[in-house]
Amino acid sequence: RKYTEQYRPAFHFSPDHNWTNDPNGLLYFDGEYHLFYQYNPFGNKWGHMSWGHAVSSDLLRWEHLPVAITEYTDKASGDSTMIFSGSAVADVNNTSGFFSKGGGGMVAIYTSHVHRNNQQLTQHQSVAYSEDRGRTFTRYTDNPVLDKKLKDFRDPKVFWYEPEKKWVMTVVVPDKFKAQFYESKNLKDWKLLSEFGPLGDTAKIWECPDLIEVPLLDNPAKKKWVLLISNSHPQGPTFVGMQYFVGNFDGRKFTPEYPKQYPLYLEYGKDFYAAVTFNNVPKSDGRTILLGWANNWAYGQDIPTEPWRSAMTLPRELYLKNTAYGYRVIQKPVRELAAIRDDSVKYTPPGKVFPGKSFEVNYSYTAGNAAKFGFKIITGENEETIIGYDKSLQEVYIDRTKSGNVSFHSNFPSVDRAPVKLQNGKLKLQVFVDNSIVEVYINDGEQVITDQIFPTSSEYSLQQFAEGGTAEADMRVWKIKSVWL
Ligand code: FRU
Repeated sequence: RKYTEQYRPAFHFSPDHNWTNDPNGLLYFDGEYHLFYQYNPFGNKWGHMSWGHAVSSDLLRWEHLPVAITEYTDKASGDSTMIFSGSAVADVNNTSGFFSKGGGGMVAIYTSHVHRNNQQLTQHQSVAYSEDRGRTFTRYTDNPVLDKKLKDFRDPKVFWYEPEKKWVMTVVVPDKFKAQFYESKNLKDWKLLSEFGPLGDTAKIWECPDLIEVPLLDNPAKKKWVLLISNSHPQGPTFVGMQYFVGNFDGRKFTPEYPKQYPLYLEYGKDFYAAVTFNNVPKSDGRTILLGWANNWAYGQDIPTEPWRSAMTLPRELYLKNTAYGYRVIQKPVRELAAIRDDSVKYTPPGKVFPGKSFEVNYSYTAGNAAKFGFKIITGENEETIIGYDKSLQEVYIDRTKSGNVSFHSNFPSVDRAPVKLQNGKLKLQVFVDNSIVEVYINDGEQVITDQIFPTSSEYSLQQFAEGGTAEADMRVWKIKSVWL
């Protein structure tokens, strides 16, 4: 399907129509990457949460499929159950016993959010299985499989723990700022192993945890454990954001390193939340691949897009870099992106280039005495989004205060900043602009800023700038093809 709407991203995933939030059930299975996602089949705002579904062979070109697991109502009690966030696994050895025909299948583990007349009653964890590569699911008749009689208890992420040949679930008690770890041999009976938290950022409830192994940047064969938590933003609890902990998991307990340094934030942009990683990526590949929701609960239901609302970030490869302060998460856009680059566009300062509305910019600053420098995405008269470096504050920033339509919500206009030191006086930015999404990867992924913008023009241009002095910078620009053609 060829999309022509004003703000439709060309190489980021978005549903064909209607509302989405968190990515769910990220899984590589039988040659396909699966992206399930929180989806409202009935409207363009949050509600009736179900699992939408798409598949891809390269993490970029997605095929939309019918809704996989839907909200349902129990006739006897009148209670409805929404299918909240969760994960999916490849049960290749049929540990669950769900797959009678021999061989394995796909199992989804999600939060059943039980409500009556829109009043939340309880949340517990349930499973559903699929014998047709995720196209259709059957809910297990003895659901829920994990019930602590809590009102808030959600977002199970299950993975296979090979050393003990068992499943491990990470799940949160949001208002207690706690992650819990459970184990199971069959995906049905779960036993508590340990709890983690509160620690780091507790300004907002904890959601969407993910306990993962992340390869070391300079020796990818070696890995360390990282716990991701969705909670609040470095600018404070008005906005959602994500923190992470680096440490060790021994099959029962997660122990963080350097506990005094937390919180560590995964992102500095406003449009990054609920990011989790793909399960079952082939060993021969070895990557840890993350995907997040490119929106923010602080204004997300009001963004001026239709007939859909919200997109996913680019998929990202995660690594750990050993720094003077300890290990830090590095995020790189997946290497598959190189294959969808279109023509390069020559940029000669101080001119402008017109790369369309979906493009990649590789900007490298080498020298100069400017107080601020970078480039602008010019989208109209007095309308621009600034991507710059501020030497006195030592920050890379996106300034979207004049980026176009910013008035749909008072929380939207913002300057979003990441702390960055110049490296031997230099700075590298890899920037993806995709119509209404801007992702800035700083110094090979040491920091990332993802922000939405809603410009009013039909063509964007780029121009370098330097304030209070000079800046020598090289800028390469590539158009990027639509993945929906
Ligand atoms: C995070 C979240 C999850 C929940 C889902 C509901 O954005 O609140 O905790 O499962 O969204 O749609």
